[in-house]
Amino acid sequence: MKTVNTKLVGQLMIRPYRATDFKEVKQLVDKWYVSLFQDTHYAKFVAVKQGRIVGVAVMSMTLTTANLDFLFVHEQWRSQGIGTQLVRKVAFWAKSKRAEGLGVNSGIENKKAHAFYKNEGFKQVGKVYNFFSNSNWQLFFWKKV
Ligand SMILES: CC(C)(COP(=O)(O)OP(=O)(O)OC[C@H]1O[C@@H](n2cnc3c(N)ncnc32)[C@H](O)[C@@H]1OP(=O)(O)O)[C@@H](O)C(=O)NCCC(=O)NCCS
Repeated sequence: MKTVNTKLVGQLMIRPYRATDFKEVKQLVDKWYVSLFQDTHYAKFVAVKQGRIVGVAVMSMTLTTANLDFLFVHEQWRSQGIGTQLVRKVAFWAKSKRAEGLGVNSGIENKKAHAFYKNEGFKQVGKVYNFFSNSNWQLFFWKKV
């Protein structure tokens, strides 16, 4: 397991998303994903560093699996343990919702994300074809919470 550098994490705050975050989140994420933040069915979290939103995570539930529908860390803030802290936070959220597991789909080409999820204890348990957004294979990772 790779030890992720988390030495800056003391100054990182992960908190639930608020409607007033929308303007800043919109600047951070691709327009494709912005609608997730306006949909109350999703649970959303933001990572705040030096007063700025530097990362986001969006969650939903399907039966007993919590889905990590979107995870994004600002390019300039990557490789500092923020993604790891967001995943740990949503795993905790999943547990609080009595989910058995936490699942995430990741594009087949996104090798960095695959290593990242495996490092956090996820196993690749499936592979699905995404006809709707980008006509690409997605690997499905899952871990018990
Ligand atoms: C994936 C993502 C959320 C990770 O966020 P992050 O804050 O950079 O994550 P962390 O700092 O906690 O950990 C990432 C590091 O762990 C690495 N890592 C984790 N386990 C690893 C392993 N077993 N082997 C090699 N590298 C590993 C990652 O590759 C990365 O490495 P780096 O430091 O060499 O760049 C971020 O890269 C991102 O927003 N990417 C674009 C959007 C995306 O792909 N989202 C996921 C879609 S499913």
